[in-house]
Amino acid sequence: MKIIGITLLIGIVGFFIGKFIKHKSLYPFMPFKHDFRKRRDTFLKTMELMKRFGAKIIVETGTSREGLRGAKSNGAATIVFGKWTKENGAFMHSVDISEESVKNAQEEVDRQGLEKFVQIHQSDSLAFLENFNEKVDLLYLDSYDYSSDVEVQKKSQKHHLEEFKRIEGQLHDTTIVLIDDCDLPNGGKGKLVIAYMLERGWKILIESYQVLLVRENLILNETS
Ligand SMILES: C[S@@+](CC[C@H](N)C(=O)[O-])C[C@H]1O[C@@H](n2cnc3c(N)ncnc32)[C@H](O)[C@@H]1O
Repeated sequence: MKIIGITLLIGIVGFFIGKFIKHKSLYPFMPFKHDFRKRRDTFLKTMELMKRFGAKIIVETGTSREGLRGAKSNGAATIVFGKWTKENGAFMHSVDISEESVKNAQEEVDRQGLEKFVQIHQSDSLAFLENFNEKVDLLYLDSYDYSSDVEVQKKSQKHHLEEFKRIEGQLHDTTIVLIDDCDLPNGGKGKLVIAYMLERGWKILIESYQVLLVRENLILNETS
């Protein structure tokens, strides 16, 4: 009886330790309870680079349709980078084709007091990017949903490549590009756009669930 009790206790303690180790928060930047899991490290690096290069304009395709509740699933990038813009005198544009996604993201933006720093546009991302006439410091590509259906995967990959092509003329020497949902079967959202960028003078800084790219000739003098 005693052995069963001890085994049970060890199991419960192990369960919570495992949960704690997997939990990847952005604390103290965001409250500890939000788990950014597979995106935490790439978000941190992106924000570090934005600070270093004095980023002022952020463009995201695909908005935070679940608000901060979607930190672990969708990423909640609109809120993470939106908060960064508020604290660093920058501005963020997030574009989404879905009325519902826009509504949900706008509610979270308002809840977080980010409405002066984040503008959510309802539009197809391709049309939006085509007409965007400011220089972009961070481009975050995360729209057309990827799925297990190979035809959908191909459409998503083509869409993200096309997004990049439409905004390419507004990218400069220290622009940072972050692409979501890459470490997935058949190459994820980034497959075509990353191949395109690598042929055009970009390099990969981090290749994980998200892929982070900068210009090939950018010298970063990394200390960490
Ligand atoms: C994965 S969610 C974006 C998650 C968000 N970036 C975050 O970090 O929470 C993908 C979003 O892309 C949007 N989307 C799909 N196709 C699109 C298109 N052609 N143009 C703009 N948005 C699109 C969907 O409506 C959905 O809200």
